[in-house]
Amino acid sequence: MDNGRIEQIIDKHEGAASSLIQILLEIQSENHWLPKEALTRVSERLGVPLTRVLHIATFYKAFSLVPKGRHAVHICTGTACHVRGAQRILDAVQDTAGIKPGETDLDMRFSLETVNCLGCCALGPVMEINGKTYGKISPAETAAVLQKYE
Ligand code: FES
Repeated sequence: MDNGRIEQIIDKHEGAASSLIQILLEIQSENHWLPKEALTRVSERLGVPLTRVLHIATFYKAFSLVPKGRHAVHICTGTACHVRGAQRILDAVQDTAGIKPGETDLDMRFSLETVNCLGCCALGPVMEINGKTYGKISPAETAAVLQKYE
């Protein structure tokens, strides 16, 4: 994300300190994570101490301070999905994208995380990409779905 875009987002909110969280959300949404330079610039422009900005950025789960891929992949490893073969889905993602849970591939395409339950246990095993749910998915289908995301 270039500096000009960060300035635009801050300008849109007229540099208001009360818009801190909204500004961080917009940067997170476009860039998928919050680089240190962006946080520093937000701190300077809004006149909010960097420690406060960092506190917010680490407090809310919606924010990431480490680089994230363009697509967030969640594999449910909760009990219902586990007994329906979640591990094979996880293996398929690892084989296709080359990443383990908690990792992001070098092309910044996918970030992979496991979750305990996505709230649709009857559809297990379940994979979610950018909030879209893929239920009763097979390892072969998993690989095919991933190919659709650039
Ligand atoms: S255990 Fe996987 S959706 Fe509930």
